[in-house]
Amino acid sequence: MRSVRFLTGITTSGTPHLGNYVGSIRPSVRASLTPGVESYYFLADYHALIKIDDPARIQRSTLEIAASWLAAGLDPEKVTFYRQSDIPEIPELTWLLTCVTGKGVLNRAHAYKAAVDKNLATEQDPDMDVNAGLFMYPVLMGADILMFNAHKVPVGRDQIQHIEMARDMAHSFNHRYGEHFVPPQAVVEESVATLPGLDGRKMSKSYDNTIPLFASREQLKKLISGIVTDSRAPGEPKEPEGSALFQIYQAFASEAETQTLRQDYANGIAWADAKQRLFERIDLEIAPMRETYHSLMNDPHRVEAILQAGATKARKISTPFTARLRHAVGLRSLVSSEVAVAKVAKATTASFKQYREKDGKFYFKLVNSSGNVLLQSRGFESPKVAGQSIATLLQLGLGALEALGSQLEPLEADCQETVAAALAGMAREDK
Ligand code: TRP
Repeated sequence: MRSVRFLTGITTSGTPHLGNYVGSIRPSVRASLTPGVESYYFLADYHALIKIDDPARIQRSTLEIAASWLAAGLDPEKVTFYRQSDIPEIPELTWLLTCVTGKGVLNRAHAYKAAVDKNLATEQDPDMDVNAGLFMYPVLMGADILMFNAHKVPVGRDQIQHIEMARDMAHSFNHRYGEHFVPPQAVVEESVATLPGLDGRKMSKSYDNTIPLFASREQLKKLISGIVTDSRAPGEPKEPEGSALFQIYQAFASEAETQTLRQDYANGIAWADAKQRLFERIDLEIAPMRETYHSLMNDPHRVEAILQAGATKARKISTPFTARLRHAVGLRSLVSSEVAVAKVAKATTASFKQYREKDGKFYFKLVNSSGNVLLQSRGFESPKVAGQSIATLLQLGLGALEALGSQLEPLEADCQETVAAALAGMAREDK
């Protein structure tokens, strides 16, 4: 059975938080362990340039995110784990895809449109402070996906549109240049919760309400104590619905543990105790990874070596594939195409010669313009039978060889292509 290829990218623009862990890192690491799945995970640092112009921050974020994935159990031996900017074929493919993508399609991309709408709402120039990177974002993402012909792309809801655009790019390219790309599909994990943040809104860097995944125990405890709750006193029954604390707990706890907390809410558990329980539960899962994380953060050489090995693995695919794509669109060596053209031209000026030998039998041969014999027949009893063989060859091309097998001298293997081209050329002229 052929395996299914999964691919996903993580923009290197910040420090991973618990929301990233629950929504992306943990399910992806689990999925990568599934048999029959081939996974590609990469650090989307070209994407980070769209919104970040602080070089040190991009470098630091790349290290933090790589260390987080590895600490969470991603096995670089099992998956292909690499940094986007180590694959120079990705920006190259971005250009090939740019040229098969309608500008109007990109005008409608959510991220770009949101920026424009924001400007329009304040009566500014629509493109004020919008860089062309934001506009091209979906094409770069399409190149990420199509380069490895991923079947499935696990993403958040906000990214579905980009996967659909990548599908369209695959179709338009294939339509023009032949079947090269697999149209990818978005996979949105319905069961994976979006984690609420400290203030109860979705945990997100843009709301500044996150809990860093690898906060120290003390920091973690302190941040959890800051999660919003209502003002119900100890002893008063509490509502699990709408409680950020409860939802975060649920994302880490088993069914049974969640049930117990639900009961304790009904029994009026004090918020301070509920927070303590949440803290212990999260720490139970994260503490073992925290050690690995810090040892990786203190050894960037090791992380760099892992990423380099991943890039080597990824380029085993991207380098030959890009060569094929370049050829497909016509970015070709002049020399190789000249040879190919000359070969065909020469071959197509070939002709059949019929003659009688001393043995009294009738023969034919296929000779090219330089007089080289491409195909030699055996002896026929009459010129008519020889003529029929020639007609069959012209009609069926190389496909006739088997049927005529006993009438022809065996063909050199490396001659086949030339003979086929010659026959096709003559058949065309016949028409
Ligand atoms: N744009 C994605 C995000 O911000 C990250 C990303 C870049 C990505 N390239 C990708 C995700 C390719 C999936 C596939 O979440």
